[in-house]
Amino acid sequence: MQSKHHSSHHSSITMSMRDKEKYIETFSFPYCEEATKYQTVAKIGQGTFGEVFKARDINNPKKFVAMKKVLMDNEKEGFPITALREIRILQLLKHDNVVNLIEICRTKASLHNRYRSTFYLVFDFCEHDLAGLLSNVNVKFSLGEIKKVMQQLLNGLYYIHFNKILHRDMKAANVLITKGGILKLADFGLARAFSTSKTGVPNRFTNRVVTLWYRPPELLLGDRNYGPPVDLWGAGCIMAEMWTRSPIMQGNSEQQQLTLISQLCGSINPTSWPGVEKLDMYNNMELPQEQKRKVKERLRPYMKDPWAVDLLDKLLTLDPSKRLDADGALNHDFFWTDPMPVDLSKMLATHTQSMFEFLAPARRATQVNRHHSMPRPSASSVQDGGYQDRVF
Ligand SMILES: Nc1ncnc2c1ncn2[C@@H]1O[C@H](COP(=O)(O)OP(=O)(O)OP(=O)(O)O)[C@@H](O)[C@H]1O
Ligand SMILES: [Mg+2]
Repeated sequence: MQSKHHSSHHSSITMSMRDKEKYIETFSFPYCEEATKYQTVAKIGQGTFGEVFKARDINNPKKFVAMKKVLMDNEKEGFPITALREIRILQLLKHDNVVNLIEICRTKASLHNRYRSTFYLVFDFCEHDLAGLLSNVNVKFSLGEIKKVMQQLLNGLYYIHFNKILHRDMKAANVLITKGGILKLADFGLARAFSTSKTGVPNRFTNRVVTLWYRPPELLLGDRNYGPPVDLWGAGCIMAEMWTRSPIMQGNSEQQQLTLISQLCGSINPTSWPGVEKLDMYNNMELPQEQKRKVKERLRPYMKDPWAVDLLDKLLTLDPSKRLDADGALNHDFFWTDPMPVDLSKMLATHTQSMFEFLAPARRATQVNRHHSMPRPSASSVQDGGYQDRVF
């Protein structure tokens, strides 16, 4: 044992540099095809964690895919753990309303890339993302179509939560829609598995998740034992956006986000939310009191439909334990009253161009940093802690 170990170690150090390069160059990864089987067509996304390209399958020219580059920059060696987590989760989730991961592929290592392969997550291509669609004034959703979007979004959430996965980055840019009108939850880069601790030992998840504008109050107050309700808050924000066409609460700091939430959803205190006083940041944040809840009143002019307003009100519930879950939302009368949900493909057929947030004329002013304490570099004035006029 000892000597064998010694001799193999010996042979590896005597392998010449050139031999090593040759070994790496010709190494054939099992279950990992070469990226050359795809031909890039256009860049369609630029996330914090890398670029996304539309590409064509060379062996099947009618087939398009999206290739998300795995960023290796800050890795000294090895495959990034964050990408591994995303892949593991995507391999587990197979549902019509979740983006389909086809495979992982890689470039060949060579002198040109200093013997480092680039890896890509390869997905079925979806023609649009919701942020891109909402930023285009020519795209008009009927009430039935909005219902179809929300129903599919909630179906996706129901499925991932049932499989004990939290998405943790709900926002319109992470919701894809195919030209056939099928909605797919995407971007599992921040997702994680959860279990409801039966042992009574609370979870200690990071609360540095979810893009600021879609971040629920429990995360802003430092909760680390959160669960599926974090994604339903995001679903509520997205739902309102289907009518307002821009994010409803565009804070530029965690404090301001809490202020905006209080102004819309009412004061945060132990009356509106029993137990909130136990959250870590409860005493460190300024929580405006005497704020009336105005969700219905402020959104009614946009949404009109009373069922829609009622469902939104129940999704944007401050207390996560009282917030509607995916199942409860799917059973809401909104989805079961006329007009019933309508297939989206007809409406989408009137638009021949793909719509992505990345390609849209900067509606959101920024590609907000996903960890987001970043202030928005916009001149839009916020009158001392008050509303942003411009916002919805
Ligand atoms: N399967 C797909 N089909 C079409 N477009 C896609 C697909 N996957 C991703 N995109 C586009 O690329 C964008 C970025 O992808 P994704 O959100 O997965 O990456 P990210 O780097 O995590 O992004 P961010 O950090 O901005 O959230 C999406 O918003 C969408 O516009
Ligand atoms: Mg994203």
